[in-house]
Amino acid sequence: MKHITFIFTVAALICSCGRNIVSDIIPEPSEIHMAGGYFHLPDTLETGCPDSSFLSLDKAFKALVPDTEFRLNVSDKGSLTIMKQDGIAEGGYRMKVSRRGILIEAADYGGAVSATATLGQMVSDGRIPCCTIQDSPRFGWRGFMLDVSRHFFSKEEVMDLLETMASYKFNRFHWHLTDDQGWRIEIRKYPELTDNGAWRDPLAHNHDIICARIAESMEDPSYVLDHSKIVIRDGKEVYGGFYSQEDIREIVAYAGALGIEVVPEIDMPGHSLKVVESYPELSCGGVARWGKDFSVPLCPGNDGLLQFAKDVYSEIFSLFPFGYVHIGADEVEQTHWKTCPKCQARIKSEGLADENGLQAWFVKEMQGFFAANGKKLIGWDEIVSGGAPSEATVMWWRGWRPDTRATAVENGHELIVSSSEFLYLGGEQDRNSLMKVYNWDPVADGLAGLEDKVLGIQAHLWAETVPTFANACNRIFPRLFAVSELAWSDPAQKDAGHFNRRVLLHLRKLEEKGMNYRIPDLSGFCDVNVFADSVRIDVEKPFEDMTVRYTADGTIPRSSSPIYDSPLTISSNTTLHFRPYTSDGMPGDIFRAEYRKTSYMEPCMETDTDALKSGLKADWYEFRGEACDSITHVPFNGSYVTEGVYIPEEVKGNIGLVFTGYINIPEDGIYSFYTYSDDGSYIRINGEMIVDSDGPHSRMERSGQAALKKGLHAFEARYFDHSGGILEAGFIMPDGRRRLFEAGDFLHTEGQSKTSPEI
Ligand code: ACM
Ligand code: ZN
Repeated sequence: MKHITFIFTVAALICSCGRNIVSDIIPEPSEIHMAGGYFHLPDTLETGCPDSSFLSLDKAFKALVPDTEFRLNVSDKGSLTIMKQDGIAEGGYRMKVSRRGILIEAADYGGAVSATATLGQMVSDGRIPCCTIQDSPRFGWRGFMLDVSRHFFSKEEVMDLLETMASYKFNRFHWHLTDDQGWRIEIRKYPELTDNGAWRDPLAHNHDIICARIAESMEDPSYVLDHSKIVIRDGKEVYGGFYSQEDIREIVAYAGALGIEVVPEIDMPGHSLKVVESYPELSCGGVARWGKDFSVPLCPGNDGLLQFAKDVYSEIFSLFPFGYVHIGADEVEQTHWKTCPKCQARIKSEGLADENGLQAWFVKEMQGFFAANGKKLIGWDEIVSGGAPSEATVMWWRGWRPDTRATAVENGHELIVSSSEFLYLGGEQDRNSLMKVYNWDPVADGLAGLEDKVLGIQAHLWAETVPTFANACNRIFPRLFAVSELAWSDPAQKDAGHFNRRVLLHLRKLEEKGMNYRIPDLSGFCDVNVFADSVRIDVEKPFEDMTVRYTADGTIPRSSSPIYDSPLTISSNTTLHFRPYTSDGMPGDIFRAEYRKTSYMEPCMETDTDALKSGLKADWYEFRGEACDSITHVPFNGSYVTEGVYIPEEVKGNIGLVFTGYINIPEDGIYSFYTYSDDGSYIRINGEMIVDSDGPHSRMERSGQAALKKGLHAFEARYFDHSGGILEAGFIMPDGRRRLFEAGDFLHTEGQSKTSPEI
């Protein structure tokens, strides 16, 4: 809190000259002008709200500005006045905070909630800095999806999530309510869906077994199955839960008050094991089991399935007022349809080309039913193949199938961008994952000039190995902040440094609310560090008051390990592990830092040799292997000279790169290097491995140090990837900044190239 106050004080100083300055708000508003002084919030704020359709804002105020009670009256008078106003962009708002009061004008209810979210973020020590704000969203659809099937999240947890979503101006909650691992919504006509399908034996369930193993081996309580979701049924402990229709109504109403529309997903015809376990006649051949890649799907050849689907969706339509309902239709193992007489009969009677056509036929039937009930159907991008009706909205998720995104746009579908590469937040985060999302752009990446075809963007949390709400929050924060900026803010305003500073403030706010998050990196060391006599290890924490524990015996730090509270000095080879903890005792990532005693490497030659030219020589090979050392054993494409270690645009496909030359070291010292690559990379200096990030892997940073004497040292970097990779490399500066290799860092011997393609 102290920190937040300080930042606003600085803002207030700058703003006295009336300049447009960036704020601490996430997502960054379109325009904010600070003025001097503050509005002091009383315990109860008389709030004039002339438009009675805005009265449910009282719930938004309570959730988003909790320290003050807002007494709403249908009147245009109050210390806070909030009015509906024409001429403001959809979802947008204007706000003026003066010493005497606050005026909010909003285009619609959503805009008023967004203004409330801004207000809530600006309160510090019971006051709000005077300012004027004009703000509107980049996209109308700013979604987040929660999978409650693989693990169940309670009504209260969903409501907490909705509040946090509203605070960051998300306005669509996609609720993945059914899947192979659990059916989570009461359907009155088919009670067995939840009687059977909402419960499982955690000791026999693969995901629960994996989580239990991680919980134990990593001593991570966020992986311990949530006991509040374990009940005794028929004398046996079972895990699960579901939402009654009353619960659903309550959650949907609360979401509405927070400006969030709820999109239910009932996934068909694949991902339906829980349907066929209770109603086996709905699958091909009456079987309920796992197939080759996915579960055996529902049988679209069976008229009973259409009736079942219509019955289920009818109940869904009556519970969810929003215009969009999600049918799923992803990852269907169609091979079962090939051998099913009913499916084949349907293909024949409907004149369909094949099983793809059968899937499209099912989606089309359902789309017609949705439309007849006033609903728009959304499907995952699989619905594009086979030709879904253009009225269906496509949620593009398969990052490796950009063609479906292009076809969806060509075929006139509305598109929601949900890239698995950038917007699936289930994978564990690392030091680069936040910037990976922040630096991406959902339109520039493949949809340039087609922004008007994009309804918006949506992030996702699949919960196979997410057994608790704390674990969910650990996966999504802080990345959800970056998604919030992608969804709301003008990309021209991007400023990574400013964003990172705001992220730290907002993580503190989450902590104050008792919500978990991924703790930002500890720094002050590399993966491999070197020293000559002894070294003082000064670990930098993201928050000074954060607890860090460590070990020096190769084991992982546990809650009983010593606390790191002052610099350590070591004088022999040692491997340390550090681990930060939140104030709730939730552990962060484990950082391994190896310390090697070494002597300074001598340079290989004097610096002023005329035979050397600037840059590195890069040899490009056609490489399909999985280890950097194998690169030179394969077909050669050509050589070129480069000032840095990266992939030029022209170098594509199955890439193997070998960079050789000399690194120019300006003075004796210990130098830190890094690579950030997908797939493998390494750096050797004088033949010694300094940064080892070899092997197939997704984007990963690795770092290492070398003790180098002034002069030229033999340098070699290698990299490989099989299409679409990334490579960065450079120095880590004493302040922790990464500095890419650049002109002047390298020299090479001319004339060694085998060929010289124009690169
Ligand atoms: C998906 O991730 N199967 C939509
Ligand atoms: Zn069938």
